[in-house]
Amino acid sequence: MKTVIDLIEKEAAAAFAACGYDASYGRVTVSNRPDLCEYQCNGALAAAKTYKKAPIVIAGEVAEKLKENAMFEEIGAVNPGFINIRISGVFLADYLTEMAQDEKLGCEMAEKPETIIIDYGGPNVAKPLHVGHLRSAIIGESIKRLLRFMGNRVIGDVHLGDWGLQMGLIIEELKVRQPQLCYFDETYTGEYPEEAPFTISELEEIYPCASAKSKIDPEFAQKAHDATVKLQQGNRGYRAIWQHIMNISVADLKKNYEKLHVEFELWKKESDAQPYIPDMVQMLKDKGLAYVSEGALVVDVKEETDKKEIPPCLITKSDGASLYQTTDLATIVERQKLFEPDRIIYVVDKRQEMHFTQVFRVAKKAGIVPEQTKLQFLGFGTMNGKDGKPFKTREGGVMRLERLIGEINDAVYEKMKENRTGSEEETQKIAETVGMAAIKYGDLSNQASKDYVFDVERFCSFEGNTGPYILYMIVRIKSILKKYAENAGVDPEKLSSFVMEAPMGDVPAGKSQKELMLVLSRFHDMMDQACEELAPHKVCGYIYNVADVFSRFYHETNILAETDQKKQKGYIALIVLAKRVLETCIDLLGFEAPDRM
Ligand code: ARG
Repeated sequence: MKTVIDLIEKEAAAAFAACGYDASYGRVTVSNRPDLCEYQCNGALAAAKTYKKAPIVIAGEVAEKLKENAMFEEIGAVNPGFINIRISGVFLADYLTEMAQDEKLGCEMAEKPETIIIDYGGPNVAKPLHVGHLRSAIIGESIKRLLRFMGNRVIGDVHLGDWGLQMGLIIEELKVRQPQLCYFDETYTGEYPEEAPFTISELEEIYPCASAKSKIDPEFAQKAHDATVKLQQGNRGYRAIWQHIMNISVADLKKNYEKLHVEFELWKKESDAQPYIPDMVQMLKDKGLAYVSEGALVVDVKEETDKKEIPPCLITKSDGASLYQTTDLATIVERQKLFEPDRIIYVVDKRQEMHFTQVFRVAKKAGIVPEQTKLQFLGFGTMNGKDGKPFKTREGGVMRLERLIGEINDAVYEKMKENRTGSEEETQKIAETVGMAAIKYGDLSNQASKDYVFDVERFCSFEGNTGPYILYMIVRIKSILKKYAENAGVDPEKLSSFVMEAPMGDVPAGKSQKELMLVLSRFHDMMDQACEELAPHKVCGYIYNVADVFSRFYHETNILAETDQKKQKGYIALIVLAKRVLETCIDLLGFEAPDRM
């Protein structure tokens, strides 16, 4: 379906043309003065210069033409030359009826669906999942769902960090603790044990301990570095330890992501890029792009138009150790080979922007991907505590994801406890669903690139611009529909076949009914924008608006007591659609609504 704006523009363009002006002046926008009109066209102001006429005269002529059109309820030409537009309730009701019949709520699918890889999550194996990774998971998942909804083929890749120094640190520390293990015996040729020499909690303790040690003990740090290189070069014993670490960590990560309703199509990892590295490095040398500088192999990536210094991209260290850049480049080689993506989107902390600028430039320069392939970096800001510093536990430690989720759920549970009607267990379950909405909405309602304050109190509030508030509105709609179906003895499934009614007159209820219809009719517009800008916060802004207008409509309209049955069915049709739009949107954001709360 065309968007409402497109449909109005078509009429406006025709009206300009009929009055002897260029049709391109018929551009229309949503009004920024909803008290005066719903849409507006400012084309007469621009046309005035070309046609050397007063803008109000042109606006007047075009408005006269538009008044003949049944699509509009009210057209006004106002000084200095705006055309104010109100669309007709009948038109809106028809539009929404069509939208309700469409599986995609009227959105037009991508004309040329793209193959898109989204690189998000990005946890580091053997390190606990912390809030920094939470943002990537939440934002990435939402972007994936948005682009997929619009008909693209979207593949989410968790891209585990499993090839860096943390592996060498763990191996070296393990060697200190258990030197007798067969993995460290260079002469050992037998099979390695199936059982890991550590548990997940031991593993989580080993890493921070080794990391701290490496900062004060240069000899240990060097050994850890050497162990990393050895692992990368295929040392058998180290690979076996690595495999144990992977098995244990990945199982734990999967459990965590499942709890977050974040799902990856691919569980690829940095090490999967290793086989591509030698050929890639050779290719960079052969093309004359890579050269040795200060003992490392580098590629120049600066461009004349750069406003700031972009240093050369490091490809490998002198000892051949691969770096973050190396694996990221080789990962692009692999992605190109396996998927030929039209686009790769990286959802990563914005502090890594330079890294990606360098990597993308090498990838383009060396022809690792075709010129038209889009490599997009979506950098997100830091999640801060109320003190404005990166979010920590009360004791000042790094906040682990599980604990954060636990705290939110407890906060929601506390709120719900007083009015709870269901069982303890049921209330806990609902608190989890609401808690998820609190976290995700709290995060996604901010523009991704901005830092934001994670405020448990505010995010869990049932009022204001929060996840729980949105859920509350959905629950309210569900309950009205349930009551209606009971009272009228109608099968609840049948409610979606009710016919939308045009709002009547200008009584308050009619007004908020129309407002609700207007905002619902803008779903398609919003989706186009959110996908174009990769901006889940647009979805949040939109549903907050829908929820707000619905709440007004609900207070001004006695839906269940309405005696005019036709009118009442029209109301029901409208809120059925509102519910569907809201539910679709929260699904795109990655959470869901309970039946009651
Ligand atoms: N593991 C990285 C980190 O924790 C994030 C990975 C992002 N993706 C990538 N292709 N580099 O910072």
